[in-house]
Amino acid sequence: MTRPFGLLAELTYACPLHCPYCSNPLRLADYGDELTTAEWRRVLTEARELGVVQAHLSGGEPLQRRDLVEIARTAAELGLYTNLITSAIGLSPRRAEQLRAAGLDHVQISVQAHEAALSDRIAGTPSFERKAAAARTVKDLGWPLTVNVVLHRQNIDRIADIIALVERLGADRIELANTQYYGWALHNRAALLPSRTQVERAEQVVRAARKRLEGRAELTYILPDYYLDFPKPCMGGWGKLQLTVVPNGDALPCPAAHTLPLPRVNVREKSLAWIWAESPLFQRFRGTGWMPEPCRGCPRREIDFGGCRCQAFLLTGDAARTDPVCILSPDHEIVAEAVRVANAETRPVAEVLAPRPHPRDTR
Ligand code: SF4
Ligand code: FES
Repeated sequence: MTRPFGLLAELTYACPLHCPYCSNPLRLADYGDELTTAEWRRVLTEARELGVVQAHLSGGEPLQRRDLVEIARTAAELGLYTNLITSAIGLSPRRAEQLRAAGLDHVQISVQAHEAALSDRIAGTPSFERKAAAARTVKDLGWPLTVNVVLHRQNIDRIADIIALVERLGADRIELANTQYYGWALHNRAALLPSRTQVERAEQVVRAARKRLEGRAELTYILPDYYLDFPKPCMGGWGKLQLTVVPNGDALPCPAAHTLPLPRVNVREKSLAWIWAESPLFQRFRGTGWMPEPCRGCPRREIDFGGCRCQAFLLTGDAARTDPVCILSPDHEIVAEAVRVANAETRPVAEVLAPRPHPRDTR
């Protein structure tokens, strides 16, 4: 068993945006009893003792927590590299200065598209101009900045403009990630999954941009796994490198594991050390011993760990099956059919244009 390297601290699921690909739980009412400041202090301390070196403060929108500065200060004082993952709504110059003084190391801002009308439509709320202003504040304060853009059918054709925007914002790192189909994204998949032609065109743009940006900014491009032959090693392996603690204190091996029918474990009841080493949840898919065929006998089993457990569950109803993205999976037809639909010329336009945004925080 390895030690965890990173902690994703999902401080709250409250969020002013309504992105149609949000991976947060569909039922937010179960997460209203959020950990207190003191509880987060304990979680961060235990994480550090366990070997964690990076804390990602996320949500929902972490800026919705009034005690974010205190939480960031605690993490920094513990010697953790602290990263704020934010929509930037609420990142006023004053708040940013407080976070800088508290020792926050890095800021990652999400942007939905290259210009206000499309970005605001996807975000479900006017936000583009505030994001751009917050990005300028981050750079003025001397922080390293990552800008993250989730790609899908409705914005991937504008990838060149998106990269140009992110360059203008002064990002040190550009993360272009195709949508992962969990949560609301799975509900809205018909409107979000790009066609093969769109994906291939985007790859050409990315290749050219990488060359052009060499030495100036790092460009990470995450391919849509529905178009790959083999799955990605989700989370670098279950219970191997990272753990997530969600707003109510549930500890998870990945941010989407709340969907799985597995026993819960909560930091209010158990230490992080016990959760990592002993809990049935973290042990369930650790390593390769749990694997069915074809993964069990596959030479790639230590490379991709059988793919994503959450995707396997959401698509087949059984989290222990091979990820259907894999061409060797007996369930691959499920993914192949979704891809066929995304590439069908006869798809109704309304379906393409109308993703279902998720409602405002329903607590
Ligand atoms: Fe990975 Fe399993 Fe597919 Fe092999 S069969 S490539 S281990 S998902
Ligand atoms: Fe949960 Fe991949 S998102 S294992």
